[in-house]
Amino acid sequence: MSRMPWLKSLDVGIEHMDREHRELFVLMGELTALVDGGPLPRATALAVDFQALVRRHFQFEEDLMQRHAYPGMAVHVGKHRDMQRQVDALVKALTPPFDPGAADDLLAVLERVYFRTVLNEDMEMACFILSHGQD
Ligand SMILES: [Fe+2]
Ligand SMILES: [Fe+2]
Repeated sequence: MSRMPWLKSLDVGIEHMDREHRELFVLMGELTALVDGGPLPRATALAVDFQALVRRHFQFEEDLMQRHAYPGMAVHVGKHRDMQRQVDALVKALTPPFDPGAADDLLAVLERVYFRTVLNEDMEMACFILSHGQD
């Protein structure tokens, strides 16, 4: 899978979120390379790290939305749960007996969902938070 580099225009303007978005992006690229070229046990470990970061990241955003009574929270959390289900399926596909074909498909879906949906939701949410004061 060819992939674009991280672009500054993908930053949402909240440093903690942007740092983790870049980490998620890098991890997705590393996972794709490992699923394509192995070794798969290394992919398993990385997928578990990825799953943990996704959970932590979504929790951070959900706490932020809660604190700011963000009106789009329910929709946003729904997108998080969808992505978490895909990530859980990815970890399963990378656990023995491995299913690298399914893992590859899931990574492609995750990258698409991430850039077309999840990040857009994040940008709208960050705009709201920044315009209402971040603390
Ligand atoms: Fe989000
Ligand atoms: Fe995010």
